[in-house]
Amino acid sequence: MFITFEGGEGSGKTSIIDQVYNYFNKTKQVLVSREPGGSFIAEAIRDLVLNPEYKGMAFQTEALLYAAARAQHLDDVLIPAIKEKDLVLCDRYIDSSFAYQGYARGLGMEYIEKINDYAMNHLPEITFYIDVDPEIGMARIQSRDKYDRLDQEALDFHKSVRQGYLEIAQKYPKRIIVIDGHKTLQEVIDEIISILESKL
Ligand code: TYD
Repeated sequence: MFITFEGGEGSGKTSIIDQVYNYFNKTKQVLVSREPGGSFIAEAIRDLVLNPEYKGMAFQTEALLYAAARAQHLDDVLIPAIKEKDLVLCDRYIDSSFAYQGYARGLGMEYIEKINDYAMNHLPEITFYIDVDPEIGMARIQSRDKYDRLDQEALDFHKSVRQGYLEIAQKYPKRIIVIDGHKTLQEVIDEIISILESKL
C-alpha cells in the first residue's frame, strides 16, 4: 500500500510518520520517504526549490520543479518500493502541489494536474491530511532555527494552503482522510494506526 501524509507547517506530520513506521516496521516491510526529495537527484532539486535565496522564483518554475523532483523520486525510490514493500509511507506528495501551488499560489488545480500527468502515474491508496489551524501550526514551529522559502510565507498564505487541502479532500473523499491535528500527537497516531490496521 502506498500511503501519503499531508499537512501545513507544524502539523506534526514528521513525528506521526516516525511513529507509524515504528509500529508497522515490527511486522511488515515498510519504507519511508519524503517530497520534495527522497533520492539523490530529487534532494538536489529540493535544495534548489526551498532555498530562501531564490526569492524571485516564478510560481510556474516552483510547480515544475516539484513535479520534476516527483518524477525522479518515483523512478528512483517509490515505484521499486511499491513493488517490493508492504507499506510505503511518503511525507508529502501530489496533494502538496495542489494545495500550495494550485490553490495558494493560484495556478489552479488543472494546471497542477496537467504538469503532474507528465511526472507521475501513481496515486496513493490513502492520503492522511493532518488538519491544523495555521495560527497554531506556525506557533508550533516558532522555535525552529531554520525557515525554508515556503515556511517564510505570511500567515494568509498558510490559511490559503489549508483551504486548498480542504477542497481537495472534498474532491477525493475516498482517498483523502482528514485527521483533526489539534488532538494530542498520541491520539492522532493511534487514530491513523487503527485506520491502517483496518485497511491492511
Ligand atoms: P519540508 O521541510 O519537508 O516541510 P514540512 O516539514 O512542512 O513537510 O518542506 C517542504 C515544503 O515544500 C513545504 O513548505 C511544502 C512545500 N511543497 C510544495 O509547495 N509543493 C509540493 O509539491 C511539495 C511536495 C512540497
